[in-house]
Amino acid sequence: MRFTQVLAAVGLVAPIGVTVAAPAREDLSDFYENFHAKRENLCSLKAPPVLCTPNKSVTVEETAVRAYKFYRAFVVDGTPREMFSYIDNVYKQHNPGYQSGPQAIWGLFCSGRKIGTEQSTSWCFDASTNMSYAKYSTVDRWAWVDGCVHEHWDQRETFPSAEKCFKLDTKSITFP
Ligand SMILES: *[C@@H]1O[C@H](CO)[C@@H](O)[C@H](O)[C@H]1NC(C)=O
Ligand SMILES: *[C@@H]1O[C@H](CO)[C@@H](O)[C@H](O)[C@H]1NC(C)=O
Repeated sequence: MRFTQVLAAVGLVAPIGVTVAAPAREDLSDFYENFHAKRENLCSLKAPPVLCTPNKSVTVEETAVRAYKFYRAFVVDGTPREMFSYIDNVYKQHNPGYQSGPQAIWGLFCSGRKIGTEQSTSWCFDASTNMSYAKYSTVDRWAWVDGCVHEHWDQRETFPSAEKCFKLDTKSITFP
């Protein structure tokens, strides 16, 4: 994302004719680093504001991009609105501690909790199975169906070897 688009996205671009001070150059790296970290506490809502609508036309490549964005929202950025926008209304849960359905895990994530950095955690989408993975203190596995997260496992899961993981230029991916 270009810097001006970043500014526009966070509402910092002033109307024409108004001068605003740009962040000093030395502040820019912090600005970028914190941009994705900007998060909302949505715990006043009883349920996720937006869920994923299954769409049979979503391609494997589009699913890989979605899986990366889901990992970012869940693990790195702690952005619950975006995270749940990738989860469908079924979310079949294989962890016996939770019922199925996105509502059952909303309370765990609504506050925008971050789990780790991109350097300290890992992400994978295996196109041969339509499964995505996140590795931090545990390994999560999700089945993607029609472009949405549909099913979840997190017990004794194995993170795939690198050659199984979809090669995605994650630097080119922009966030809402
Ligand atoms: C379904 O996905 C396709 C492929 O991404 C997209 O072109 C289309 O607009 C989507 N349909 C809806 C209703 O979102
Ligand atoms: C994975 O999903 C795509 C649609 O996104 C589908 O065409 C393909 O058959 C699926 N593969 C498996 C192994 O389920």
